[in-house]
Amino acid sequence: MSKFPSEKPVLVTCGLPYANGKAHVGHLRTYVPADIFVRSLRKTGQEVTFVCGSDTHGTPIVVNAEELKTTPGELVKKYHEHFDHTFKDMGVIFDAFGTTDDPTNHERTVDIVNRLIDNDYVYPKIIEIAYCARCDRFLPDRYVKGTCPHCGEDARGDECDQGCGKHLEPGELEVPVCTICGGVAEYKEQEHYFFKLSEFKDFLLEHLKDLEGTTNARNYAIGWIKKELTDWCITRNLEWGVRFPGHDDLVVYVWVDAPIGYISFTEEWAEANNDDWEKYWKGDSRIIHFIGGDIIYHHCIFWPAMLKGAGYSQPWSVVASGMLKIENKTFSKSRGYVVWVGEDYLEHGFHADLLRYYLASYTSHTKELNFSWDVFQEKINSELVGVFGNFLYRILLFAHKNYGEIPAGNIDQEVLDKIGYTIEDTTESMENYEFKKYVDTAMSLASFGNAYFQSREPWKLIKEDKDACGKVLANCIQIAKALVILFEPVIPTKMEIAWEQLGMETDIHATPYSEAMVEIKEGTRLQKPSILFEKIEDDTTKKMDNISSERVRKAIEKECGKKEETKMETKENITFDDFMNLDLRAGTIVKAEAIKRSKKLLKLEIDLGEDIPRQIVAGIKATHDPEQLPGKQVIVLSNLEPAKLCGVESNGMVLAGVDENGDAILLAPEKKVAPGTRIG
Ligand code: 2FM
Ligand code: ZN
Repeated sequence: MSKFPSEKPVLVTCGLPYANGKAHVGHLRTYVPADIFVRSLRKTGQEVTFVCGSDTHGTPIVVNAEELKTTPGELVKKYHEHFDHTFKDMGVIFDAFGTTDDPTNHERTVDIVNRLIDNDYVYPKIIEIAYCARCDRFLPDRYVKGTCPHCGEDARGDECDQGCGKHLEPGELEVPVCTICGGVAEYKEQEHYFFKLSEFKDFLLEHLKDLEGTTNARNYAIGWIKKELTDWCITRNLEWGVRFPGHDDLVVYVWVDAPIGYISFTEEWAEANNDDWEKYWKGDSRIIHFIGGDIIYHHCIFWPAMLKGAGYSQPWSVVASGMLKIENKTFSKSRGYVVWVGEDYLEHGFHADLLRYYLASYTSHTKELNFSWDVFQEKINSELVGVFGNFLYRILLFAHKNYGEIPAGNIDQEVLDKIGYTIEDTTESMENYEFKKYVDTAMSLASFGNAYFQSREPWKLIKEDKDACGKVLANCIQIAKALVILFEPVIPTKMEIAWEQLGMETDIHATPYSEAMVEIKEGTRLQKPSILFEKIEDDTTKKMDNISSERVRKAIEKECGKKEETKMETKENITFDDFMNLDLRAGTIVKAEAIKRSKKLLKLEIDLGEDIPRQIVAGIKATHDPEQLPGKQVIVLSNLEPAKLCGVESNGMVLAGVDENGDAILLAPEKKVAPGTRIG
């Protein structure tokens, strides 16, 4: 029985791309299967609305715009248009493709936040926010980098991107550094607003129990909730974004207004089509989110809790795709492991449908997909060219040459049964988001067709019994008709041509699966067919491989160049007076202890000849045992502005260098001197 009863319309959404860079094949891992799913569901007669849009807020966009000396508005406009046409070029056709900066989204976000406030799910709290004194600004999210408090790796303000991958709340990052000026940041107290996520634990466990979709989404989310569910800071100090109601200096965190885009884009679609958005978001219909596997937390935890708290319908299904690798290397723009949809694929004249086919059929949706030109070539040549294309071309050429029309002939029960079972199996695979299985099952019908044609030897039969031969051809054309209908969701543009070659005058995109069982009409005129799928030559693959290797080589060169530059880097001259303003002193460490919350920091008390020892925080925990430090002499910059590191006040800086292993080397006087001895 179908999982999709016709009385429940389906809304399908795709994770919103950040309007901050170009589309790459990694993006398509989500959008192409979602588009295939939508086209397929429509073929079962289901009402489906498909929406997406650009994610336009958040600090990366503001940082990038600043670096490019443009405005966030200009930057997102450029990339919004880029994504809009790239999706269309790839045959991914949304019913609405808005932006999270659309007025509809500002209004919907404010409405939802106000509802959460009214329902008592939002509270203010004073927290420590990274602040850069030099830039005189608070540093949200990517404006600050430092050390992850969970794993000790380098991390950015809102996410441990180099290490454990955890979402970081403001104030959690250790040893914060301003990403604009590179200066050491401090933590300052400020009032922010929190969403009471912790109150949704029971609701979420219940919600996730019934959540449809891929098991990776449900299982990860349940695991995370069982571990911990902390309240969530939903405001940021930024100019760009959706204003937090009643506070001119705050915007909502991008992960609040981004998913709300799903609702706003449904509203925009409804407005343009005179339909009702509430049937999805306030009614009992089905909402399916297609997302990348890296944003399961946001879609299975934050988002349903927010919707529940504000009185909206929750997602029915979350479909999370596996990672994309390039030639077995983890995707990385900076290291050159990237395949751009435009300049690396479409602009070389490859047809969008070939990439759609490859992405859908390479491996199961939740597994890692390794993009490789060799595998691409192999799959296209052996499957699309060798099996499906070969079948279509040979039967249509034969029929055209010998009959000029669809010949008469009853369709064998065996053929109708085979088509019937194939449709049952493929639609079931699609309902379970098993795209590879769908394609493989459809392709096995093409193999069946080839075997049918081959075993009946129509090239001999035509000489002996033209009617019997006509019947063989009619059966083959019936199989071809079913194949074109089955493959339309995967390779829609190519199937438009194939449909025409079968003499069909209807719209293949609107043709339901059930039409595959309707017998073809004898006497329909056939044109001379053209070859649908061309073989990809070895030279082409080699050329594409070279482009990829060249990009990786350039990226490595750039990286080495950067290192070289850093080695050679000298600072601008300073005056003698500037130097004399540095109050450098020799001091003796009297006490050293680890800062528990930090993997890098030690709290030191240093005798500088003053009444009481100075408290100074130093990033030497990884290299120095606190028990060995008391009694050791060091050089201290004693007039550095006080700062808080990991919540601990630091009144100066202990001077240290870094050796070739990255270990801290403390500077010390040549011989023991009185604490407080001036240096310089
Ligand atoms: O991770 C990302 O690329 C985000 N732009 C996805 C947002 S999806 C949604 F929730 F809006
Ligand atoms: Zn700064």
